[in-house]
Amino acid sequence: MFFEQLSIGGFDKNFNYFLGKDTSEVCVVDPVNIDDLLEHAECLEIDKIVAVLITHSHFDHISGIQDLIDAIGPVPVYIHESGAKELKVGCRTVKDGDVINEAGLEIKVYHVPGHRFDSVMYESGENLVTGDTLFVGGCGRCDLPGSDVNAMYDSLYKVLPSLDKNLKVWPGHNYGKTPSSTLMKEFESNKFLNCSSKKEFISLRND
Ligand SMILES: [Fe+2]
Repeated sequence: MFFEQLSIGGFDKNFNYFLGKDTSEVCVVDPVNIDDLLEHAECLEIDKIVAVLITHSHFDHISGIQDLIDAIGPVPVYIHESGAKELKVGCRTVKDGDVINEAGLEIKVYHVPGHRFDSVMYESGENLVTGDTLFVGGCGRCDLPGSDVNAMYDSLYKVLPSLDKNLKVWPGHNYGKTPSSTLMKEFESNKFLNCSSKKEFISLRND
């Protein structure tokens, strides 16, 4: 599997990702800074970007979609069904448990509301793209429009523990000590995953 993390800035240390069976076709996650993105694609000898995967509809994760389509032509854009109305382009909606077949991969979708009502994570192979739900050593803010701290607790304390602990964690922003992690490491050291009660989590997150 081909998987590449791109640190091309965006609005606040945003990460973009390329993933595909190989470099003949790839999906891109949360594309921003499209000129830079396409330059990286060329350096990595990527032949074709075939789909866009959106982790959630905050501006810094969706603002590059139109520029990308202008540059490469129409490609399917995947987003959680609750976020479709937030996009100005046509999209394909997904829901929890769906599997996307693109770029020679099976990409599983987990709906993880909390940071935003339409937050999803994408799993393929050993990789888990966590968007702004889980950061290295942190988790997404829950004080923004469309946030819900109770939903975030369920996403972190019910959905994440059901996944393979060996999955690599690939976040939406470079806020941690390292650019990526594993679920196991995060369960061991991330304070937001180590609260003894929902009350404790909510007061830590709202602090
Ligand atoms: Fe966000």
